[in-house]
Amino acid sequence: MTLPRTPSFRLDGRRALVTGASSGIGLACAAALAEAGAHVVCAARGAEKLEAAVAEIAAAGGSAEALPLDMADLDDLTAKLKAQPPFDVAVNSAGLARHGPALDTRPEDYDAVMAVNLRAAYFLSVGVARGLIGESKPGSIIHISSQMAHVGGVDRALYCASKHGLEGMVKAMAIEWGPHRVRVNTICPTFIRTAFTTATFANPERRRWIEEKIKLGRVGEVEDIMGAVIYLASDASALVTGTSLLVDGGWTAD
Ligand SMILES: NC(=O)c1ccc[n+]([C@@H]2O[C@H](COP(=O)([O-])OP(=O)(O)OC[C@H]3O[C@@H](n4cnc5c(N)ncnc54)[C@H](OP(=O)(O)O)[C@@H]3O)[C@@H](O)[C@H]2O)c1
Repeated sequence: MTLPRTPSFRLDGRRALVTGASSGIGLACAAALAEAGAHVVCAARGAEKLEAAVAEIAAAGGSAEALPLDMADLDDLTAKLKAQPPFDVAVNSAGLARHGPALDTRPEDYDAVMAVNLRAAYFLSVGVARGLIGESKPGSIIHISSQMAHVGGVDRALYCASKHGLEGMVKAMAIEWGPHRVRVNTICPTFIRTAFTTATFANPERRRWIEEKIKLGRVGEVEDIMGAVIYLASDASALVTGTSLLVDGGWTAD
C-alpha cells in the first residue's frame, strides 16, 4: 500500500507580492510567506515602513524587497506590475474604511474606499493573472476581504459594499482563470487587532458588540491569519478557487 502524501505547504522558489505589507495583516502575511520559503515583494505607500518590514524579514532569515506604490493610482499600479516578473502568489491586503451611517456617506468617501478596496483589487488581480497566463504558469491570488463580505455591520454600508463586491469578483475571475490554473480566493477575517481597528476597539459599545459576536470569545490577532494565507498560497489548496476562507471566530455561524 502507498500512503497518500500531504501536499507541500512550502513556497520555496516562488515569488510572492503582498500589498499592505508594511502593517497589520499584510505584514503578517509577508512574514508567513517568507518563512515558508517565498521571495516576498512588499508593497505599500510609505517607503520607510516598507523598508523596515523588509529588513525585519531578512533578519528573520527570509527574502524580501520593497515596492512602494499607491493602490489608488491605477496607472502607477499597472505600470509597476507590468515591470515585474510574474508572481506565483499575490496577497492583496491594502485596504481602508470610512465607517459611518450610509446617510452621511459623501461621494468622496465612496470613491476613496472603492478605489483601493475594489478597483485596485480588480486591476491588481488582472495584472497578476496576465503575467501568469502569459508565461503559462499557475498561481494563487488571495484578497484579504472581511467577514463583512458575508454579513452587514453597523455603520458599514460602504465597507460592506466594497468587500461583498470583492467576493463576486473573485468568483467570476476564478471561473475565467481556472483553465489557466490561476486560483483566486479571499480570506475573511473577523476583527483583528491592528492599526485599522484601534478606533473601533476604543469604543466601548462597539467592543461589547464584537466580543458578543465572536463565539470563540476573543478578538483576532494577525497570527490568526498566517496559517490561512500559507494554505491558500501553497499546493495544499491546489483544488481551491473562487471561494472564501472565513477566519471569523464563528461570527457568521448564526
Ligand atoms: N483589522 C481588521 O480587523 C480587519 C478585519 C477584516 C478585514 N480587514 C482587511 O484587512 C486589510 C488590512 O487591514 P489591516 O488591519 O492590516 O490594516 P493596517 O494595519 O492599517 O494596514 C494597511 C496597509 O495597507 C497599506 N495601504 C493603505 N492604503 C494603501 C494604498 N492606497 N496603496 C498601497 N498601500 C496602501 C498601508 O500602508 P501605507 O499607508 O503606507 O500605504 C498598510 O501597509 C484591509 O483590506 C482590511 O479591510 C481587516
